[in-house]
Amino acid sequence: MTVKKAIIPAAGLGTRFLPATKSMPKEMLPIIDTPVIQYVVEEAIASGIEDIIIITGRGKRAIEDYFDDSPELEMHLAKKHNTELLKLVRDVSSLVDIHYIRQKEPNGLGDAVLRAEKHIGNEPFAVLLGDDIIVNDKPCTAQLIENFEKYGRSTLAVEEVPYEKLSSYGIIKGKPLNDSLYVLEDIVEKPSPEAAPSNMGAIGRYVFTPEIFDCIRDAGAGIGSEIQLTDGIRALNRTQMIYACRFKGKRFDTGDRLGYVKSIVDFALKNENLREDILEYIGEILAVEKDLAKK
Ligand code: UTP
Repeated sequence: MTVKKAIIPAAGLGTRFLPATKSMPKEMLPIIDTPVIQYVVEEAIASGIEDIIIITGRGKRAIEDYFDDSPELEMHLAKKHNTELLKLVRDVSSLVDIHYIRQKEPNGLGDAVLRAEKHIGNEPFAVLLGDDIIVNDKPCTAQLIENFEKYGRSTLAVEEVPYEKLSSYGIIKGKPLNDSLYVLEDIVEKPSPEAAPSNMGAIGRYVFTPEIFDCIRDAGAGIGSEIQLTDGIRALNRTQMIYACRFKGKRFDTGDRLGYVKSIVDFALKNENLREDILEYIGEILAVEKDLAKK
């Protein structure tokens, strides 16, 4: 069985991006000219996903509007014969079948995933966090789906996390099978660095068997009184083997200010219309900084 449905949780409050997120979803922050969530949706499509459920909440209407048709704008661009921009705008709204489900309160990632249970039914599905961008020729979600198709087991994407950041992630204990695959033995939500079972953290990509829903529900509220996905994964691991996959690709945590700035620099350097100017500008800044350091 393969994976055709995906959940993109995007109902969090984005407090690390206040005050911007007072009135705009962090998933709509632009990486130059394209909102973060478009990259996430594109990764899902490139991984073979045909049906996407975005979990939204209060103040997240901009996401729905973004993926909807925009007749006035299209009419305006058509009148001006701006065919290039017209195509760009139309392409966004015809990407894929997207459904929206509201999470009434941001009660945690586990709760956000649970909101989509009825829509998913008894099928395996992917979860892609709405604020993580992963760049690779073979998308990260496709790598997880490939593992799922091989073993029929839930699979989490993991990567090495620096010591001082361990307490921001779900950290796994795993039995290595080869360079890139572990059998999950345990996962601990936001451990202190001293107590972390390894330096491998779960990032925002997962493939689950549908049994995860009952496990999230049974686990109930955890750290911060939120319904944590990590607790559901722990519970699932008691009855089903789970794999952790060290994915190939470069990840940007755009929900974090430094991660967001890094993503813009990287994408600008990859853009042939911007690359030379950006390099020149970075050169100028470095020269000024060097001079200041000498004084
Ligand atoms: P984060 O913990 O990074 O998002 O959740 P947050 O809570 O919005 O961010 P900060 O820490 O306050 O800045 C990862 C993803 O899960 C979604 C978020 O929208 C984000 O895409 N999420 C989180 C939900 O959909 N619902 C929740 O209750 C929590």
